[in-house]
Amino acid sequence: MSPFLITRTLPEDATGADLRADVLHGLTRTPKELPPKWFYDARGSELFEEITRLPEYYPTRAEREILLARAGEIAAATGARTLVELGSGSSEKTRHLIDALLPGLEDYVPVDVSESALRGAAESLEKDLPELRIHALVADFTRGLALPGTPGPRLVAFLGGTLGNLLPEERATFLRSVRTLLAPGDALLMGTDLVKDEATLVAAYDDAAGVTAAFNKNVLSVLARELGADADPDDFEHVAVWDPEREWIEMRLRARHALTVKFPELDLAVPFEAGEELRTEVSAKFRRERVRDELAEAGMELAHWWTDEQGRFALSLATAV
Ligand code: SAH
Ligand code: AVI
Repeated sequence: MSPFLITRTLPEDATGADLRADVLHGLTRTPKELPPKWFYDARGSELFEEITRLPEYYPTRAEREILLARAGEIAAATGARTLVELGSGSSEKTRHLIDALLPGLEDYVPVDVSESALRGAAESLEKDLPELRIHALVADFTRGLALPGTPGPRLVAFLGGTLGNLLPEERATFLRSVRTLLAPGDALLMGTDLVKDEATLVAAYDDAAGVTAAFNKNVLSVLARELGADADPDDFEHVAVWDPEREWIEMRLRARHALTVKFPELDLAVPFEAGEELRTEVSAKFRRERVRDELAEAGMELAHWWTDEQGRFALSLATAV
């Protein structure tokens, strides 16, 4: 059996303190907003996995197609002995990359805020790949990362298009912090969803079965459990809109009628007017030039750009300059 280690790099009450700060900041301003990382408790992680199997949600299938086609090239180009994955979730797609990187790959370091997702992923990996050392980190990848001392070269993977869930300024800060993780010979492998027609995009974020709506409303359960908030999911409607100027999808929760959400632990009452919206996620879509420029701005160079056959999603391989 491979040695599976899990380290929590967040201080004990970091989650609660961060959530309180985000609520106090984001729900007392207009328009209201919360960062998307709060979707991912155990239930939210399960709902995300369900989303990846929906007919409308193409990004996971498109990225898997690229990984299957290019994993050998990625392995040859990087020769990675350590794979660090940020926002690793179930690590399901990553398996294709790991298979291609073995036997040279010695360590896998999945990093996620969702401890349940990390445990589930590590359990299935350690069963199949006893020779791989797994050191999972429960950590917030926007907060600066202290990685374990594992052998180089290191490949940092950031898959799924999660970069798009950061706002432009957050992306710039995040990419600069990723750059500090790269020594000469290391590389970054990043998945980005691409700009495409509005109907395809909106359907991917507003599926017929209502799984994305449940995922969006899950943040209300997190607020109820962690902060005692009395928000009723039935009082809110799931909304997904495409912003053609910013080239991003916004997920929002729209109040069906005027209501007040109370947070007794914060001594806070948050009024919503009828129809008022709370933005819960931005999912930016990219073009090659933007990815290249944002990488360059952070001190990295785009070395490879691969897309799926239909040109829906891209994988970039970048190195430090
Ligand atoms: N990479 C996987 C999962 C994508 S879902 C895939 O491609 O399918 C996004 C993942 O990022 C979730 O597992 C979520 O828990 C994690 N995540 C979101 N924000 C995070 C943050 N700030 N720090 C660490 N993990 C985060
Ligand atoms: C994790 N992230 C890239 C997903 C996305 O597509 O932005 C999260 C998601 N939100 C709604 N559906 C999926």
